[in-house]
Amino acid sequence: MLAASALAYITFPLMVLMAANAQTFVPNPGWRNTNIDVSTKDRIDIARDALNKAIAMIVDDSNGLKFEDGNYGPIGRLFSQMAQFDMLTKQTVYKERLLDFFPQAEKFRPGFVHSSINWGLSHSIAATQAFTAYSDPSFLEWAEQAWRGGEAYTLKEEELKTGRINGKNVTIRSECEGVSTAGGTFWNNKPEDPFVNALGTGSFLIASSVLSEATKNSTYALFASKSRDFYYNHLRNTRGDMLDGKHLNECQPSAGAYPANFGLVMEGLAVLTSVSGQENRNTYFSDLVEIVNRTVSNTEWHSQQGILSADLTARPFVELVGQYVVRGLAAIYDRNNTRSSLRTFVRQYLGVQYNAVRSNARGQGSSNDTYTVPWTSPQQPPSSQNATLETQINALSILLAAIPIQNDPPGEPEPSITPEPPKGTNRTTLDWRAIVGAVIGGLATVCLLTVFVLWLVRRRSRSRHFVNALDATLLPTEFANQSQTELFASINKHLHLGGPDGEKDRPPPSESGSGDLSGWSLTYLEDTDTGTDSSQAPLSMVSTAEIMSVLNRRLQGVEWPEDDPPPDYVSHNPPSSNRSTE
Ligand SMILES: *[C@@H]1O[C@H](CO)[C@@H](O)[C@H](O)[C@H]1NC(C)=O
Ligand SMILES: *[C@@H]1O[C@H](CO)[C@@H](O)[C@H](O)[C@H]1NC(C)=O
Ligand SMILES: *[C@@H]1O[C@H](CO)[C@@H](O)[C@H](O)[C@H]1NC(C)=O
Ligand SMILES: *[C@@H]1O[C@H](CO)[C@@H](O)[C@H](O)[C@H]1NC(C)=O
Ligand SMILES: *[C@@H]1O[C@H](CO)[C@@H](O)[C@H](O)[C@H]1NC(C)=O
Ligand SMILES: *[C@@H]1O[C@H](CO)[C@@H](O)[C@H](O)[C@H]1NC(C)=O
Repeated sequence: MLAASALAYITFPLMVLMAANAQTFVPNPGWRNTNIDVSTKDRIDIARDALNKAIAMIVDDSNGLKFEDGNYGPIGRLFSQMAQFDMLTKQTVYKERLLDFFPQAEKFRPGFVHSSINWGLSHSIAATQAFTAYSDPSFLEWAEQAWRGGEAYTLKEEELKTGRINGKNVTIRSECEGVSTAGGTFWNNKPEDPFVNALGTGSFLIASSVLSEATKNSTYALFASKSRDFYYNHLRNTRGDMLDGKHLNECQPSAGAYPANFGLVMEGLAVLTSVSGQENRNTYFSDLVEIVNRTVSNTEWHSQQGILSADLTARPFVELVGQYVVRGLAAIYDRNNTRSSLRTFVRQYLGVQYNAVRSNARGQGSSNDTYTVPWTSPQQPPSSQNATLETQINALSILLAAIPIQNDPPGEPEPSITPEPPKGTNRTTLDWRAIVGAVIGGLATVCLLTVFVLWLVRRRSRSRHFVNALDATLLPTEFANQSQTELFASINKHLHLGGPDGEKDRPPPSESGSGDLSGWSLTYLEDTDTGTDSSQAPLSMVSTAEIMSVLNRRLQGVEWPEDDPPPDYVSHNPPSSNRSTE
């Protein structure tokens, strides 16, 4: 009996220490306006107006698309946004339009193959999203057709072995620094160009991942994992920056690391993580965490208030890079609704961008459906006439991403992202939260032990009946009639912030790579972010110290069987350790 309660005293501070040490995303203190105060209905109206404006920019009077070589990629991204709008709002507003638009796009560039491989792939991604939104098989056909265009310019082991690379008349290294170059996607279809880049490889990664998600065909998951490997082996430097590309005739990396490189791999990995088997999921997820961290903490790409500032120089036909970061983060938010500091971090970051775009980039009066750059500060004078298809699509990325966002209920602490303690050397670096946790835990232990000893002394001099009466008055009524096991279960649940029932992760796919992906679906308006387990409600009003003292008293009142293992709550996160994340 004594041993069990002593164990409870010792494990509690230990538990605080370990959880504080797990990695937690802490929102940037410079962030302002992280909450979105616009109603969901208004967000939908704002996004629809902006979409209609963008469409008006590219169609002629007879509804024909005004294609040029330089707007082929942006138009593919706009198609994605039209489908995404309907997915998010469960409507078919743009279905007929898209059924009409895709054949026009295929006619302009047969097979959707543009000289920029990623611009063709933007049509594959869009068509897959349209297939997901409307379940019309025509969209899947276009998606696969456009995907094959990208696949033709993606390096495969067999090609590298024979040295004959499809569409290229230049020597391509089969390895750089001893690692195979398979999985890289060329930037363009020019025979003499050996440049494989993040835009091409990242776009193919996304196209394959979303097709894998939509069709459950394992071929796509396999290609996606190859693209991911190329990214990690060849386009990532030792600091963890995503490089722009590599000239594979001599394994020469190009200088520069742009937000789009990070955003593309973020979006691809978010989808790939959600369709992957358990054995790869953890690796992909920790990659994702690192990329989010590196992107959002990059001070060159953000204003002091955390607003994306990488789009200051708008040049015609150059892709604005902010949209890729927003899309990547939205893909994480939409596909994984496990409550975590990462989710809160993403939500707040997107909130900052949304509010910035509305106040700084949006036109005024009758131009309120028009968006320009930059997002960081208002234009003087307002220049809605400077809006282009690209600035409009750039803003649409966040107007759409904001639709499913739900603010967290106030006062709910977020669990850290890695429930298990980090491995290796990380473990020795304690931050202040761990120290505060340990000190508080230690003090609590001393206090409780003192109370316990005093109480033991008192107990001997009083009748059993009196103690029970005292117990019943001091216990919160929810606990009064619970058995010891139930009490532990409740406490466990409280500390776990949601408990096993609150775990919103989907069941793992059965086979590696291939996959029963049925458990996964996109979570749009039914987002369960704010869903709280009602059984938690009484407990959340009780402080941990109260619980510990109640626990103590309960332990004294009931015989604890000597052989029973102590309750297992060591790996869960106490609410006190990471309140700072919200
Ligand atoms: C983000 O990066 C910083 C600096 O490298 C690191 O200290 C922190 O633990 C990282 N955060 C997460 C959640 O990975
Ligand atoms: C490949 O390039 C060489 C010169 O670099 C040229 O002589 C040859 O005709 C090219 N072959 C093709 C099929 O384009
Ligand atoms: C899976 O996709 C690949 C590539 O598009 C295709 O060749 C193959 O036939 C598909 N397999 C099935 C079972 O649909
Ligand atoms: C979802 O997020 C949680 C915590 O943020 C993480 O542990 C889990 O691996 C993620 N799952 C997927 C499939 O992304
Ligand atoms: C945008 O402007 C139009 C025309 O001036 C107006 O009817 C509409 O209410 C405005 N929308 C918003 C959301 O302010
Ligand atoms: C908007 O266009 C005007 C006239 O074409 C130009 O002078 C001004 O610099 C532009 N503003 C921005 C922010 O590009």
